[in-house]
Formats: sequence, C-alpha cells, structure tokens
Amino acid sequence: MRTRRLGKTDIEISPIGLGCMQFAGTSNMTRWMVRPLDQEMAVPVVRAALDGGVTWFDTAEMYGNGTSEAVLAAALKSCGIAPGEVAVATKWSPVGRTAASITRTIGDRLRHLGGFPVDLHQIHFPFGSLSSIPAQLQAMARLLKAGRIRSVGVSNFSARRLELAHRVLAAEGVTLASNQVRISLLHRHVERDGVLDTARRLGVTLIAYSPLDGGLLTGRFHDDPALTRSAPVMRRVFGRRELSAQGLARTQPLIDEMRSIGQAYGVSISQVAVNWVITRYGDTVVAIPGASKPRQAAQAAATMEFQLTEAEIGRLNELSLA
Ligand SMILES: NC(=O)c1ccc[n+]([C@@H]2O[C@H](COP(=O)([O-])OP(=O)(O)OC[C@H]3O[C@@H](n4cnc5c(N)ncnc54)[C@H](OP(=O)(O)O)[C@@H]3O)[C@@H](O)[C@H]2O)c1
Repeated sequence: MRTRRLGKTDIEISPIGLGCMQFAGTSNMTRWMVRPLDQEMAVPVVRAALDGGVTWFDTAEMYGNGTSEAVLAAALKSCGIAPGEVAVATKWSPVGRTAASITRTIGDRLRHLGGFPVDLHQIHFPFGSLSSIPAQLQAMARLLKAGRIRSVGVSNFSARRLELAHRVLAAEGVTLASNQVRISLLHRHVERDGVLDTARRLGVTLIAYSPLDGGLLTGRFHDDPALTRSAPVMRRVFGRRELSAQGLARTQPLIDEMRSIGQAYGVSISQVAVNWVITRYGDTVVAIPGASKPRQAAQAAATMEFQLTEAEIGRLNELSLA
C-alpha cells in the first residue's frame, strides 16, 4: 500500500503506524486501559513493525510521563534506526495546565525522544486545560515556527473544534495536520458527527486509535468469553456492554464474516478489522493499532499488503451496524 500524506504537510507516512501506549510501563495509569508491554519486548515489537513497512510511531507525554517516548526511542536505536528515518508523533497533556506548558515541556519531549524529532505534536484532548483552545494552538504554532516540531495535530476534537483549530492555525500561517480519534468497525461516529466530512474538506488526516476496539475485533473474546475477565479494567468498565454475553452474541455475525473474509486472503480477523479502517475512508484515515507482542505488530503491519474489496467493505458495514 502506498504512503499517505499527513494532512497538507510534506510528511509521508505508512497507512499503519504503531500505537505506543503499551510502552508506558506497569506503574502508569495507562495499564488500566491497555496491557503494558514487557520492556524487553519493546525492541522485537518495534522491529516487527519496521520489518513490515511501518514508518511512524505514535506516543504521548501521558503514556508514563515520558516512559513510552524513551522506550520507543531506545528501541528504534537498537533496531539501527537513526533520527529522521521514521516519523514520531507525540502529544502534550492539557490536564490542569496552561498553554505556556506546551512551550515549557517541549524540551522534555525531545529529551525523552533522545534525538528523534517531534514530527507531529498533538493536543491530547480538547478539555482539561486552564487556557483556551486558541491559546494552545497558538503555542503549538510558535513551536513549529521555532523549528522545534514539524507539524501540529489535535486529538479527540469534534467537528466544531476541528474547524476552530484549523482557523486559529491558518491565521498563524500553519496547517492543521491531523485529528486523532477513535475509529473501528464498532466505533463509526466520525461518519455521523461531521468529523469525517470536516477533515476531508479541510485536508486534515484522521488518525484512528483503538482500531481493534482494544482486542474485541480480534475475535478472541468471542472464541473464549472467559478472557474478558483479564481485559484491562477500563476496557471492562467502559466496554462492559460490548464484552457482555449479549454484546458478544450481537457482534458474533460480524466476527464470523471477518473470519470468512480473512480466510480468503490468508489473514487474521484483526487484519480484516484494521484493513477496513484504512480502506473504507480512503487516504483520509490512517490507523495506529497497539501491540504488546511482536506477532501482533507484525500482523498489524502486514495489513498493508492486501485491500478489501468494495463488496467486502459493504458487507462489513452492514453487519457492524446490525
Ligand atoms: N488519542 C487518544 O486519546 C488515544 C486513546 C487510546 C489509544 N490511543 C493510541 O492508539 C493506540 C492503539 O489503541 P489501543 O491499544 O487502545 O487499541 P487497539 O489497537 O484497538 O488494541 C490493541 C490491543 O489489541 C490486541 N491485539 C493487537 N493485535 C492483535 C492481534 N494481531 N491478535 C490478537 N490481539 C491483538 C492487544 O491486546 P493484548 O495486549 O491484551 O494482547 C493490543 O494491546 C494506542 O497505543 C495509543 O497510541 C490514543
């Protein structure tokens, strides 16, 4: 699959990037959301992604206050990757802080990244900051003009806020590169809430997080419902309807169809799920599946080696809404 342009920037990325929340360590609150990777697995996971053609990685300040960034950078170096050879996206955490902390903390981001540049710096959420969204974006624009970051993105922004972000940056002569939002076969809100249309109109890339719905779209909970008990606590709490016996029965026909489509390509259910995300919306959407094992990263990368047909996408669309 050919590379995609990040918004209207000159940055080219593979349709799949590696989500690195799993790199945050075991003492961080992200362990309630995802299974933390064993630290010695970081190098094989990153190597599997690189070997499969992944050219960029998504991390965040919030993922262990720099731990994920540092583990990623060390793993890239161990794999023989030099700064500039892949793209790195990170995020500023707005909670309880003013926009001035964007400027104050960029040095920390760059230090944790150990020489890898910040190719994309994102505002992690549109809430929680003591400053307005325009003030946050103006601070980002200043970092870009000072050459400390290569592009500016946002995350979890609604269509209205996306418009605002675009307008504020445009007034500074800066382009809004991306909006990172949840998209999967079971989370298709962007199709209804205006985010997809707005992104297309403005030329903003949507970065799809949790494209596997935290593992639900691998079929493993359908095959063995007892596994739901060992899912990370926030998945169990916020995904309790999807993970309940009733919820699993409701999505079983979708999983069955994904299994059957996958068999025809010789790929797994998870690869069908991720391929749907990067095919259904054309070049507008790229995806960042997470992985706690090298095999998972390899499978995610290999998703770029086939393409679902329109008919297959159509069947999955119907079943995912059923
Ligand atoms: N901007 C935001 O607010 C935000 C929010 C959430 C996530 N994110 C980003 O998005 C990335 C991905 O999201 P996510 O980790 O929440 O969800 P995800 O990608 O939907 O699910 C990842 C999990 O699915 C399982 N998995 C992956 N590949 C598999 C395979 N081939 N076979 C079986 N199971 C497989 C693994 O679970 P096990 O580890 O349990 O095996 C893995 O940890 C994160 O790393 C992070 O970078 C951003």
